[in-house]
Amino acid sequence: MNRVKSDLSIYTSGNNKNIPIIFVHGFPYDHEMWHMQVMSLSSKYFCVTYDIRGLGSSQAEDGQFTMESFVDDLDNILLELNLNKPVLCGLSMGGYISLRAVERMEEKFSALILCDTKSEADTNEAKLKRAEGVKKINTEGLESFVKGSVPNTFTSDSIKSSSIYQEILNRSLRSNPLGVKGCLLAMAGRTDTTAYLSQIKIPTLVVCGEDDKLSPPASMKEMANKIKGSEYVLVPNAAHMSPVENPNLVNKVIIDFIQKNLKNNL
Ligand code: MLT
Repeated sequence: MNRVKSDLSIYTSGNNKNIPIIFVHGFPYDHEMWHMQVMSLSSKYFCVTYDIRGLGSSQAEDGQFTMESFVDDLDNILLELNLNKPVLCGLSMGGYISLRAVERMEEKFSALILCDTKSEADTNEAKLKRAEGVKKINTEGLESFVKGSVPNTFTSDSIKSSSIYQEILNRSLRSNPLGVKGCLLAMAGRTDTTAYLSQIKIPTLVVCGEDDKLSPPASMKEMANKIKGSEYVLVPNAAHMSPVENPNLVNKVIIDFIQKNLKNNL
């Protein structure tokens, strides 16, 4: 993977003449959650991953983020890498960013892949949980927050059997607490993109782990039903982190989706 010079940590892999895919990770992870996708897809596609501001090795700066500033960052990456209508693939918080990006500038993307995410804004209950998260990080430290939240995003089998789970947990524990709190507040303040779902014109794939408790299959199916012509895939042996927990199936589904809907540039 090549690291791009930028104020964000951006990585590219593959031939830049191929169809580009830009991957937007979930919270509180970093670009490495897409490792298995990049390994498998970069022989066919130009894969771009990055660390959302405040997470991974992208600086937290003053820790003041909004969903809109995350979309500004994504837009700047498109410009910086001169990406011509990439496929946009986001998981969970990455999906919130992707949905708002498509609502704001759909013409900049050729297709959309939404993994384990939702279009609704936070409910009051969810906002209070974000506030609790911020308080927990301030009073007990990041470890307590991460260890209390990351396990809820994997199946118990993934936790027991995979070294990838441990790797992802360890990477999250190294996050900057200021950046993690900034992301919590940005998610609490995001807008609801549900009204735009029926207006999405680019081909869209919706992927959901069958044991996802945070964005459960029934609500993701409902979201897919609102996007005309979208494809919905339920991923077995996976919870909220379907591309990490069942990468072989998710990679195949992504390749089939792109082959069906887009022509490679080469
Ligand atoms: C994520 O995986 O990005 C988070 O679960 C999103 C959220 O907390 O809403």
